[in-house]
Amino acid sequence: MSPEPAESDERLRVAIETAQAAGRLLLRRFEGELRIETKTSEADLVTQADREAEALVLERLRAAFPGDAIVAEESGEVVRAPGPCWYVDPLDGTTNFAHRFPHFSVSIAAFDGELGLVGVVHDPTRDETFFARRGHGAWLRSPRHDAQRLRVTEVDRLDRSLLATGFGYDRPRGGNVAELGRVVRRARGVRRAGSAALDLSYVAAGRLDGFWEYCLQPWDWAAGVVLVREAGGEVQTMHGEAWTLRGPSVCACGPRLRAPLQAVLRDEQAT
Ligand code: IPD
Ligand code: CA
Ligand code: CA
Repeated sequence: MSPEPAESDERLRVAIETAQAAGRLLLRRFEGELRIETKTSEADLVTQADREAEALVLERLRAAFPGDAIVAEESGEVVRAPGPCWYVDPLDGTTNFAHRFPHFSVSIAAFDGELGLVGVVHDPTRDETFFARRGHGAWLRSPRHDAQRLRVTEVDRLDRSLLATGFGYDRPRGGNVAELGRVVRRARGVRRAGSAALDLSYVAAGRLDGFWEYCLQPWDWAAGVVLVREAGGEVQTMHGEAWTLRGPSVCACGPRLRAPLQAVLRDEQAT
């Protein structure tokens, strides 16, 4: 296997460069004045930076891959085409961004149907780029060190696990609270950092042992799922069914933690 697969695949190369360019735009906006609007509720925000970053990403993907389809968070289905489909979240972690909490990302993935081809998640604040290509592993590149191969953890006990979750805008307030309550009593720690794409990247990188959430959208989790799978992790729904781009939920973790984590999420006896 090539130690550095990024330049050998055109989709991956363009996705990395595009995510990093969008990340630079987000950082410039993060340091200036923000224009914030609400979408479906006071909890569901969009900023001018979301829209500008999305325009940058769409322009580059359309120019590089005119035969590919594109689905993007702020614009919906932009291009319908028979080729692979790009899923674009130009700013994952908008609530963090709007509150100047420095934890957010750009998430770009290409799928052929339900088959993940490439996934890229870029963290502009830390200048870390997580990327994966089907069959070529998951990697992390940052200016501080050469590209490193990512692996999920071998942790098999909840009481030794650090986990993450999130709370979507679409579910009634309180959705996932019962699950959180059960897991938090058993796990070493649970984080809610506010970017599902980074949560999944951290599972791939072994910084987290697992992640679960209900009802995300395809652009939220597509890239992260490619990363976790290429890092040797397992991705299913919270109830142990096959995961699809439409969910309806995700449970991503190292292979040894899947059974104990899902048992607690399903409210079965587990330690
Ligand atoms: C949100 C983040 C968050 C998750 C929400 C998502 P957005 O995406 O990924 O971590 O809990 O469910 O909607 O709106 O910031 O792109
Ligand atoms: Ca998102
Ligand atoms: Ca977003």
